[in-house]
Amino acid sequence: MVSVVFVTAEGARVTAHAQPGARLLEVAQNAGMSLEGTCEGQMACSTCHVIVAPGWFDRLRPASNEEEDMLDLAAGVARTSRLSCQIALTEALDGIEVRIPGISRDMQIG
Ligand code: FES
Repeated sequence: MVSVVFVTAEGARVTAHAQPGARLLEVAQNAGMSLEGTCEGQMACSTCHVIVAPGWFDRLRPASNEEEDMLDLAAGVARTSRLSCQIALTEALDGIEVRIPGISRDMQIG
């Protein structure tokens, strides 16, 4: 089993477990994270966007050009942003930490 730590937009930490090979998007959804993943991994949306903890980001396979293009359109992108539908968990990623971006974080209030 591979464990994943999700940090919600509100700052809560939620640990989930999945089999190697599972897609991060599905693991997040099963853990109750609010990621829409509208296109179900077709790289035609950016609603599965997550921000990977810096220490873990470098251990992931680099994003494809298509993924980079979609990330350009995502709200609240950070240097370590990825599309969670493009990340397959492996044993080497055991303990990976990712943050769920909050939509409200990007909106101007008032
Ligand atoms: S689910 Fe649409 S790009 Fe990941």
